[in-house]
Amino acid sequence: MKEYKIVLLKGDGIGPEIVDQAVKTLRKTADKFGFSVCFDEALLGGSAIDATGVPLPQETVDKCKAADSTLLGAVGGPKWDNMPGDKRPEAGLLGIRGALGLFANLRPAVIFEPLRAASPLKDEIIGDAMDIMIVRELTGGIYFGERGRKEVNGQPAAFDTEMYSVPEIERIARVAFDLARKRSGRVCSVDKANVLESSRLWRETVTRVHKEEYPDVELNYMYVDNCAMQLVRNPKQFDVIVTSNIFGDILSDEASMISGSIGMLASASLGSGKSGLYEPVHGSAPDIAGTDSANPLATILSAAMMLKYSLGEPEAAKAIEDAVSKVLEIARTADIAAEGLRTVGCKEMGDLVCSLI
Ligand code: IPM
Ligand code: MG
Repeated sequence: MKEYKIVLLKGDGIGPEIVDQAVKTLRKTADKFGFSVCFDEALLGGSAIDATGVPLPQETVDKCKAADSTLLGAVGGPKWDNMPGDKRPEAGLLGIRGALGLFANLRPAVIFEPLRAASPLKDEIIGDAMDIMIVRELTGGIYFGERGRKEVNGQPAAFDTEMYSVPEIERIARVAFDLARKRSGRVCSVDKANVLESSRLWRETVTRVHKEEYPDVELNYMYVDNCAMQLVRNPKQFDVIVTSNIFGDILSDEASMISGSIGMLASASLGSGKSGLYEPVHGSAPDIAGTDSANPLATILSAAMMLKYSLGEPEAAKAIEDAVSKVLEIARTADIAAEGLRTVGCKEMGDLVCSLI
């Protein structure tokens, strides 16, 4: 029997509660589809700072490198908000993505039919369905560029640097084009080429990769400000969106809300190998941590992405996605509560999904 080694980075806030629910669903699919899963835990973020003094201990990097895949909850919280930038929990998250070379972040924004009414968009704007895949570059750009403080005209100032190399753009473009070939065959490359030099190189490079390697895929371009507007004006026009680290961070939060709740949006971070890091797009929600009211579905759907992209178990992934669709007709967590449907806690939501697999 195949056995997959999975590292759990439960993190802070609601992280532990939501990861526990995803673990249950992974165990359930393993039983059902004839493979086995074994879990090991490692520290990341605020909990790592408290235990070891740093947000990303070397032991965590080593464990993740040796595993088939990693499942992450969320990091951060008010307790660590006043730490210097490189000692914050978020630095641990950027650090693990960098250390594992996970340059491609896949963030699917889909509307589950039963959640249509939870979307802030009107029915006619949503149309038949919404299924967008945001491909965010994850280990470059301004989140990884040179930054610092200095003095300008005798006054304190600060700077961050957006820089992309051609190989960094080529590899993320290929991820987007490959995905588009398996979907409806359209890519929209989002940049700010009317202002930024790094965006002009981005556009030139995407254009060349398209011409040389993917002429069968339909490619168009959009400035990021226009894209933010188009996402709520006419989301149906998008299939795959490929963009830089910072633009993808912002646009994926926007797209998640279209789907009803950021509590529904999963993500996969991939590098050149099979292994990956899977995490919900939302944060650690410290205000509701420990109250058993968080929505575990984004983490459960992230586990489904793991089964699909890293472990090669697409049927098990589909079983989880189908169970999530069904559970939304029966019960809801508080963030997507609806009249006539039972409102349940995080743990019960996890149990219900398992019972539907
Ligand atoms: C995300 C988050 C992180 C990011 C933060 C917490 C560092 O917003 O995964 O989207 O910016 O990547
Ligand atoms: Mg974000």
